[in-house]
Amino acid sequence: MKILSLRLIIALIVGVTLVSLASSWYEVRTTKDALRRELESKAETLGQSLATGAEAPLQAGDTARLELMIQRSTNHDHVLGIGIYGRDGIPLVVTPGLGSLISGAPKLMSDALHGNRTVSEFVRSHLKRTHMLVAPIRTADNKVIGEVIVVQDATYIRTEIIRAWSRFFLRIAIQVLVIASITLLVLRWSLTGPIARISLWMKALRTGRHAVQPTAQDLNLLSPFANELAPLAESMQQARAAAEAEARLRNINESLWTAQRLADHVRNRLNGSNLFVVSNREPYRHIRQDKKVKVTVPASGLVTAIEPILRACHGTWVAHGSGNADADTVDIHDRLQVPPDDPRYTLRRVWLSSEEEDGYYNGFANEGLWPLCHIAHTRPTFRTSDWEYYNTVNQKFADAVVEEIAGEEHPVVLIQDYHFALLPRLLKDRLPHARVAIFWHIPWPNAESFSICPWQRELLDGLLGADLIGFHTQAHCNNFLNTVDNVLESKVDWEHFSIERNQHRSSVLPFPISVEFVEDRSEAQTGMNAEEERSALLLELGIEATYLGVGVDRVDYTKGILERFQAVESLLERYPKYQGKFTFIQIGAPTRSRIKRYADFQAEVRAEAERINDRFKRGKWKAIVFKNREHTHEEVQRYYRAAHLCMVTSLHDGMNLVAKEYVAARQDERGVLILSRFTGAARELHDAIIVNPYDIESTAEAIAQALEMNVSEMVDRMRRMRRSVRERNIYWWAGSLIRELCELRLKQKGYTNISVIRKAQVER
Ligand code: G6P
Repeated sequence: MKILSLRLIIALIVGVTLVSLASSWYEVRTTKDALRRELESKAETLGQSLATGAEAPLQAGDTARLELMIQRSTNHDHVLGIGIYGRDGIPLVVTPGLGSLISGAPKLMSDALHGNRTVSEFVRSHLKRTHMLVAPIRTADNKVIGEVIVVQDATYIRTEIIRAWSRFFLRIAIQVLVIASITLLVLRWSLTGPIARISLWMKALRTGRHAVQPTAQDLNLLSPFANELAPLAESMQQARAAAEAEARLRNINESLWTAQRLADHVRNRLNGSNLFVVSNREPYRHIRQDKKVKVTVPASGLVTAIEPILRACHGTWVAHGSGNADADTVDIHDRLQVPPDDPRYTLRRVWLSSEEEDGYYNGFANEGLWPLCHIAHTRPTFRTSDWEYYNTVNQKFADAVVEEIAGEEHPVVLIQDYHFALLPRLLKDRLPHARVAIFWHIPWPNAESFSICPWQRELLDGLLGADLIGFHTQAHCNNFLNTVDNVLESKVDWEHFSIERNQHRSSVLPFPISVEFVEDRSEAQTGMNAEEERSALLLELGIEATYLGVGVDRVDYTKGILERFQAVESLLERYPKYQGKFTFIQIGAPTRSRIKRYADFQAEVRAEAERINDRFKRGKWKAIVFKNREHTHEEVQRYYRAAHLCMVTSLHDGMNLVAKEYVAARQDERGVLILSRFTGAARELHDAIIVNPYDIESTAEAIAQALEMNVSEMVDRMRRMRRSVRERNIYWWAGSLIRELCELRLKQKGYTNISVIRKAQVER
């Protein structure tokens, strides 16, 4: 602040001084010119009158009269000397001392004589400033017969100038002093004072001491800055919590992936390039309801996974703008900064017509590819018109990505999911310098199942535009390699898990996706432990129960929700002691409701819950609570923390992040996870109770086992699962994917053994 004040004051002093100097200089110059003109005019008048008066006495050789004339004139102001000379330049009459003053006069005299005109100039002689005028003495017929010389003292002009400068300097000094003092006072009142108080506040926040918030007046003065302070204070608190968590973890000798580590890693790996993520689903949707616009976060495993990465690495996320107020919240380039309350990265929205959305999203992606890739016994539907829309929309996204990437030297593009199988090729053709990866978030079926798709060749060709193709598990990678082997002319390298085609190599590798693992999602958030949270939730739901189970899903036929309800029914049949005691809460976000299969499924789930509830009706207890709406992340966390068990019974699932979210939420190391063996998560979370969701009775037994599990076993299992999720969290996933992608670029020139890199990656 001192430096700022100093700079401001110096700038003001220099500015005021320069302006004053310029105006003073102008004034001085005008005064000087006026004084000189006045002296010149006096000399002219005197010289002319002497020259006129001298003609007759000169012709008559009357030197006495000439002498009398010049004697009379010497008492004029400033006159130093006067002389009258003959035509030959011989002095006739001169005042005493004139000789020493006119050392420069011969030239003037000869100019006047030969030019027959009056000449004058300012001369410095013997350290004296003088003005010298020579006027010719003419006869009536204009013949020059002699000259008059008048010498005046010009020193007084300089004295006047010096006086004027002194006055000006005094005025400048007073101005500078007044301006600097006023500036200092204003700075102190409105800037340094409030900033000092705010900085004390920030310091207290930083050091974790009690902080007194500055007054509204202080904050008002700095309003643009003040708007940032509350989030900044919160970020500081979060950063301190993260640093403490890291320090704790360092103590137990663990090196974990955190947002910061990922950000550093990405910065290193990308070496100044930017990260571009493409997905169909956007992370923030603006919805207009009752004339108000609100922001919602869509229920999607993909959003849960990708959002923390963009927060950490900034970059740009290109996605479909699907909210009814989305278009009102973007700039002219269809961009906005998100998260809305703490902007960290750019969201670029792409607009689709309802026909495009219907054909590409509802049709080809969700009625075709989704059931094709999930073995859940719903028949895929492939329509030519949907396929055409799928092509159009992939092209539209390619255009948007190319626009965003313009000017990037080495862009890195991470494409998400089955909505964009054609995008890698479209991008690579236009941006061969971009490093392109696609991550397929859903399972890849075996080659025979995939061959149902009439456009399997085109889809595979599109995907093989990518440098890296990622799946959750090695089994899905193997299925993909087999499919390509069966369908396309290409060289499948089973040793290095890559495919060479048209002189381009795509690596096909597993990257099990995960969630953010927040170390300190402490009770502090709600101030409640699991037991208290349970009581609070039951009160809100208006039911009574002793044990709680929870399931969190989009209401999708692949999630095994009906099987789960039937397992609860079977538990209540087999273990009547749980009737009136065990309640299963299903949080079910509506999804893809414009597709008939989904609308029907939603109704089936509701009917099944009602049927079971009717069957076991008892007082204020309910067997199943079906909460059929979107829930915020914070709401879901409460259920996770309160539930004795969480059920993930997908019939087929690429990974399933609910399983990992539940584990991450159980900071108390309690709770049991029941997990379908048909999820990717079952390959990592070995301490869950693994079930076959089609086997209703065994799943019922799993619920009983969970409810009866002793605390030490529960803690052991949860602790091991938490270690796994903590170590392989979402930052680890993104870090591995980006590292692999950057390595692959190096491999284009010389072949590097992938298995060596992968081994190093696992060790890291
Ligand atoms: C699940 C899948 C993702 C998929 C997403 C789409 O989360 O695991 O692979 O991208 O659903 O859901 P949406 O609601 O966008 O259709």
